[in-house]
Amino acid sequence: MRVLGIETTCDETAVAVVSDRLGGDGGDILSNEVLSQIAQHAAYGGVVPEIAARAHIDSLDRLIVRALANAKVDLKDIDAIAAAAGPGLIGGVLVGLTAAKGLALALGKPFIAVNHLEAHALTARLTDHLEFPFIALLVSGGHTQLVAVRGVGDYRRLGSTVDDAAGEAFDKVAKMLGLPYPGGPQIEDLAQEGDSHRFDFPRPMVGRGGADFSLSGLKTAVRQEVLKIQTLTEQDKKDLAASFQAAIVDVIVDRVRGGIRLFSQSEGRPSGLVIGGGVGANGAIRRALTRLCAESGLRFISPPANLCSDNGAIIAWAGLERLKCGYTSDLGFAPRPRWPL
Ligand code: KG4
Ligand code: ZN
Repeated sequence: MRVLGIETTCDETAVAVVSDRLGGDGGDILSNEVLSQIAQHAAYGGVVPEIAARAHIDSLDRLIVRALANAKVDLKDIDAIAAAAGPGLIGGVLVGLTAAKGLALALGKPFIAVNHLEAHALTARLTDHLEFPFIALLVSGGHTQLVAVRGVGDYRRLGSTVDDAAGEAFDKVAKMLGLPYPGGPQIEDLAQEGDSHRFDFPRPMVGRGGADFSLSGLKTAVRQEVLKIQTLTEQDKKDLAASFQAAIVDVIVDRVRGGIRLFSQSEGRPSGLVIGGGVGANGAIRRALTRLCAESGLRFISPPANLCSDNGAIIAWAGLERLKCGYTSDLGFAPRPRWPL
């Protein structure tokens, strides 16, 4: 089976074609076209919804044609069209969803509305052999949550952030240090040359029960330190980045530990821990979770960084998983700017 997937929930316009494998073990990415709009938003220090929606309109048709050509697949050989229907910026979601519905209608093929978070959660089953149930840590610019993935369409939230998302914290701290958007990768680079012990930043929620996150206090602590120093040297920036990253890593590890505990109480033993979302590309977070999983006797599955950040292959794959279960969507399916798993 081959599914075409469209992603337009934020600032990437992305289209991919994905197929399943005989025997049902993972999938193959036949093409994966991602066009980042970062340059168009950079001057504003974040994503501007109207600019995002217009940019999706400008490039989506071209990307669909290119994804099909690179996959060497004809439209008539596609079995279903999937699109991320939320959560995300409504203008962008509307663009991708409408294109997907139009194609499905014209081809007489099923249309599948995919939850963007579900797509991040299921990515590990595209790249690896992984049975349900497992735990997914979803960390991006807009979301931070831990989810028990019991099956396709069967998710239970173990914990989520009560304030900022992890990527948002990275981006805001980067802004304080005078770095352009998106700041996550640059904080990671700076941190490599910094002293993570110089600033003793708070680790909110660490040691508490449950698996919820809170990150705004950490961000505020960094701001206070920046204001105290006033004129930051390059070394100050490196030390701030390293100390911030060390704190957020500790918070994430502690909260995931809480999530594993919650999961074990209600679901039994997970088949592994999966990471998804742009922040999942962070090497320090990956290394810390690798250690945690080794201690807990758990498998840790971290998809390659280009599949952690937003792309069409993860939407196509979630669509394919849904198609196999017979979960197709009505053409009346409306965009869902908010759509908790
Ligand atoms: O999933 P994503 O591509 O888009 C959504 O927000 O849905 O995630 C983007 C976020 C941004 O906040 C970016 O700064 C962060 O992921 N990010 C990182 C790294 N790479 C991307 N944060 C920390 N370390 C990284 N290496
Ligand atoms: Zn995402």
